[in-house]
Amino acid sequence: MTRFAQFAAVALSLAAPALASCDYGTHLNPRSESVPISTFGYTGLTGPLNWFGLNETANKLCATGKNQSPINLDSSITTAHGSSVTFKVDAYPHGAEFENLGTTVEVPVNGSLVADGKSYKLAQFHFHTPSEHRVDLEYFPMEAHFVFSAADKSTAVVGFLINLGLIPDPLLASVFASVGMIATPGSTTSTGPLVFGPLENHLNSNTIFKYSGSLTTPPCSEGVSWYISTKPLTIDEITYQRVRDVVKFNSRYTQNSLGEINLLQNAANEL
Ligand SMILES: *[C@@H]1O[C@H](CO)[C@@H](O)[C@H](O)[C@H]1NC(C)=O
Ligand SMILES: *[C@@H]1O[C@H](CO)[C@@H](O)[C@H](O)[C@H]1NC(C)=O
Repeated sequence: MTRFAQFAAVALSLAAPALASCDYGTHLNPRSESVPISTFGYTGLTGPLNWFGLNETANKLCATGKNQSPINLDSSITTAHGSSVTFKVDAYPHGAEFENLGTTVEVPVNGSLVADGKSYKLAQFHFHTPSEHRVDLEYFPMEAHFVFSAADKSTAVVGFLINLGLIPDPLLASVFASVGMIATPGSTTSTGPLVFGPLENHLNSNTIFKYSGSLTTPPCSEGVSWYISTKPLTIDEITYQRVRDVVKFNSRYTQNSLGEINLLQNAANEL
């Protein structure tokens, strides 16, 4: 590449820093015609340690925010019964679109959440491997995020940790039936039939963690209401391997405890 071509490529890649961010499809980041491929990543200079460097204005909170996600979920985090929130996802008996955004695999679906007196609309759900949140310091092979936005543009995420087990969750098996078809970033396919009643019951019949954190991808916006089931879902090993082959690695490192100095800010202060 010539110097100019290099510059142009970098300028182009910086122009849309959060196209496929984890708020993709919400009011903050509306869905576009074709599947956008993310310009941030999880390795080297595109990775989480340099998200601030990709756009110091847009991504400032990634390096300075004091309520960043993901975190270690321990006894300091508030819990509530899952029945205190109303989580609904429409059924897609013929499957839904399944997209590879380069940084995650995602399914745009409709649904709703009523939590802490606020009503939200569902935009999509997507996956991280390994899990982003930890529970008592332990990580899990995967994590699912259902991303909602409210009329006032605030964001809520319902999260499920996913463990390996012998009896796979039928919903996850149906979501991932065709994951091998979207190995290339930007590609799409269709999931198997999706029915969310058992997942809604899973959330409603177990304890949840609740806290106010951030998006786990650029621009790392804060004020995100997290509701995470304390009881993991289960995936079988072969399906897990197939997902990992496509997604590779897309987990932001564990952030400092809520309200404490951002770990990158701390490092900068120490230099
Ligand atoms: C950085 O993000 C801001 C939006 O916060 C945008 O206006 C600006 O163009 C971006 N800069 C680059 C170099 O992409
Ligand atoms: C969600 O609902 C809207 C409005 O009813 C509809 O236009 C859209 O196609 C739906 N999206 C999905 C993914 O079902």
